[in-house]
Amino acid sequence: MAKQPRNGKVTVVGAGFYGSTTALRLAEYDVFETVVLTDIVEGKPEGLALDMNQSRPIEGFETEVVGIGGGSYEGTEGSDVVVVTAGLPRKPGMSRMDLIETNAGIVRQVAENIARTSPDAVVIVVSNPLDEMTALAQLASGFPKQRVMGQAGMLDTARFTDNVAEELGVPVSSVRTLTLGSHGDTMVPVPSRCTVDGKPLSEVMAPDRVEHLVQRTRNGGAEVVALLKTGSAYYAPSAAAARMARAVMEDSGTVMPVCAWVDGEYGISGVYLGVEAEIGREGVRRVVESDLAESEVAGLREAAEAVRAKQADVADL
Ligand code: NAI
Ligand code: 2OP
Repeated sequence: MAKQPRNGKVTVVGAGFYGSTTALRLAEYDVFETVVLTDIVEGKPEGLALDMNQSRPIEGFETEVVGIGGGSYEGTEGSDVVVVTAGLPRKPGMSRMDLIETNAGIVRQVAENIARTSPDAVVIVVSNPLDEMTALAQLASGFPKQRVMGQAGMLDTARFTDNVAEELGVPVSSVRTLTLGSHGDTMVPVPSRCTVDGKPLSEVMAPDRVEHLVQRTRNGGAEVVALLKTGSAYYAPSAAAARMARAVMEDSGTVMPVCAWVDGEYGISGVYLGVEAEIGREGVRRVVESDLAESEVAGLREAAEAVRAKQADVADL
């Protein structure tokens, strides 16, 4: 079958660990015409782009990676999707919330530039603290809420899946899990939606082991930070953001856990929160509500109230 022509332009803002691995994953899909990688640092995105392009003959992809340094947006114009990775990562002992003031200044400025140069883009935010930075990017860009979403649930779900597979010694492909809520202390791993080879998790694992893995998932980012000593995770996070960007560009309608604007689902309104959503060319097509255990819905409502207050605060940062 003939290959589909490459199309679309995705810009990744921030050429650090998260941004550069995301750009490479997007380029290696070989479905986009152009992947633009930008940073305030001069030379770094240009150098990374050159290096990625030189991997094309070996890996066999044609997407062109363009690097733009110095904080310029010239060359990003008319992007279909923009992934925002600009901002500081945390250090051991820091919470994501410790980054809020510094990263708010960065994300506000980035969102205003995106609105100016790519007014029709779908924006995927990854900078931390995630739920608050997603809300701020929507405010600062003035974009419709469905065109701005955050990446966390894909990553946290992948961590839950990997944790279950490792504990049981089974392939990750046999495990289905789900994680909703905030990308922080009120994260809501959802055991009632977990299966192993189609069997409910409760049938194959003792309750105390399930609870242990729920806690390990909540602590998943900190576990990596503590080992790395400097900087935070980027392989699994970039895989998640790249899949989201691809789902947008291909108008796939895939249902994914993302940080989306919630308007009535689960009895929650007026807040960006980790929920399942159908992703397409317009961003979030709809939030998908499903049956959860009572305690899980309660956890989701608690998460909503925790991030609601912080999301109101970022308007002034
Ligand atoms: P990093 O420090 O490697 O890279 C950040 C990059 O942003 C740097 O190259 C810096 O020069 C650039 N930058 C700073 N201000 C900028 C601006 N105004 N415009 C353009 N670029 C700018 O950090 P890393 O590891 O790439 O992480 C990036 C962010 O992603 C952090 O806030 C981190 O906490 C977050 N993160 C979020 C995850 C999630 O699941 N949502 C998972 C992992 C990281
Ligand atoms: C993570 O979960 C630090 O948010 C980042 O890896």
